Amino acid sequence: MATFEWNSSMNTGIAVIDKQHAELTQIINTLYYAYMNGEEDSVLSTLIHKVNDYAHMHFATEVDLMSAYRDELPDYESHMEQHREFFSNAIGFLLDYLNNKADITPELLDYLTDWWFNHINGIDRKMAEFLINKGAA
Ligand SMILES: [Fe+2]
Ligand SMILES: [Fe+2]
Repeated sequence: MATFEWNSSMNTGIAVIDKQHAELTQIINTLYYAYMNGEEDSVLSTLIHKVNDYAHMHFATEVDLMSAYRDELPDYESHMEQHREFFSNAIGFLLDYLNNKADITPELLDYLTDWWFNHINGIDRKMAEFLINKGAA
C-alpha cells in the first residue's frame, strides 16, 4: 500500500505508543509524498533521517516498556526481530540511497508502509494487550 492515514481504530491503548505511531505514520507519509512529487535530495535526505531517528526512538520506548517482562512476553524475541528487519530491509535501503548506493523505489516505500501498518496492528497491539493486562501501562 502506498500510504495510510493513522486513525483511532489503530490505538493500542497505551497513550505514548499511540502518539508515536501517529507521528511516525505522518513522517512516513510525508516522505512518500515528497518522493512522489520529485522533491530534491536534500528534502528526501532530511525526511529519511527523520524516519530513522524517530523509529529508533519509538522502538526504544517499546523496549523500555517491555523490559521488565521480556521473560514472560511470548513474542518478545520475534518482536525484536521484526524491529531489526525494519532497519535492515527498509531503513537500510533508504540510508543506502543517501550514500548513492541504492535508489528509492515505489516498491521500497510500499514495503516500508506495509511493514509499519502490519507491525502496529499486529505484534504491537499484542504487546500492548499484555502490558495493559499486567497493569504495566
Ligand atoms: Fe510500535
Ligand atoms: Fe514494535
